[in-house]
Amino acid sequence: MQSVKIGILGLGTVGSGTVSVLKRNAREIIRRAGRDIEISVAADKDLQSPKNCDLSGIKLTDDAFSVVNDPDIQIVVELIGGTGVAKELVSKAIENGKHVVTANKALIAMHGNELFALAQEKGVTIAFEAAVAGGIPIIKAMREGLAGNRIEWLAGIINGTGNFILTEMRDKGRDFADVLAEAQALGYAEADPTFDVEGIDAAHKLTIMASIAFGIPLQFYSAYTEGISKIAQEDVQYAAELGYRIKHLGIAKKTDRGVELRVHPTLIPHRRLIANVNGVMNAVVVKGDAVGPTLYYGAGAGSEATASAVVADIVDVVRALTTDPENRVPHLAFQPDALKDTPI
Ligand code: HSE
Repeated sequence: MQSVKIGILGLGTVGSGTVSVLKRNAREIIRRAGRDIEISVAADKDLQSPKNCDLSGIKLTDDAFSVVNDPDIQIVVELIGGTGVAKELVSKAIENGKHVVTANKALIAMHGNELFALAQEKGVTIAFEAAVAGGIPIIKAMREGLAGNRIEWLAGIINGTGNFILTEMRDKGRDFADVLAEAQALGYAEADPTFDVEGIDAAHKLTIMASIAFGIPLQFYSAYTEGISKIAQEDVQYAAELGYRIKHLGIAKKTDRGVELRVHPTLIPHRRLIANVNGVMNAVVVKGDAVGPTLYYGAGAGSEATASAVVADIVDVVRALTTDPENRVPHLAFQPDALKDTPI
């Protein structure tokens, strides 16, 4: 059987991690996908700077549009981020009948409703596991593992940079700005780190999780969003003296009036599981009516942790391409038609 050809857009932290994981674990990945996966081409706007992966055998270009217009490419893997050129590229890829795998939470949270509608029209999939909680397979867990449940609420630490800052401030008395600089150097932070520290990144992820959990359209602007930038060393230490930890939570809850979305710092008793999620780790609790509370924990940011989720989506799409003669991947696609009568 012919290999599936993929094109990667962006060779930064997540892009280089994705190339490394696909190459290193090729044997396992091919066995699970049922087909050979070929990274046919990778695009990056700055090909001169050193990349953190082995690019041998991959065609390189600085023209990302040539990738989405390449008739040989079946899956476009968008790892550029942001809502500018990434949106144009993803839209073009879908229009050209390509499946899309993306880690771009801002794109999905802000423009997902229109992109999913376009994807449905074109019969292609947008897979976005890596957009939420890094390597934790939380989208699959909610869609597949909790498919028989009515989800009542979910809450979690969904920004690794923010949790790393709060942990280092508490445990080592470090300065906010100093830890943020380290998070940037480690590749955890967003290109604009105010997204991390002002809760915008967490609100993007919460918006996406809520749409899956409650079957509602994406509604980023409905989320109450408060960050951690005003938290001082004294706040963290006083909370500890009183037996609490400050954690930055995203919370989505079904109420009589609709779905409530909020992101803000929260005082949590220090013995609770979620109070002990430290550093760049993320954790999400999802409460289903049948199963009760369930907990998902893992690295919320970082090169290969996020790549793990990207590659899982690539495998899912390839598997569906292989088993479905019409090349449709309905179990992954958000179904806007089914939601148009759902009250927000
Ligand atoms: N800046 C994000 C975080 C990256 O720190 O969680 C992963 O989405």
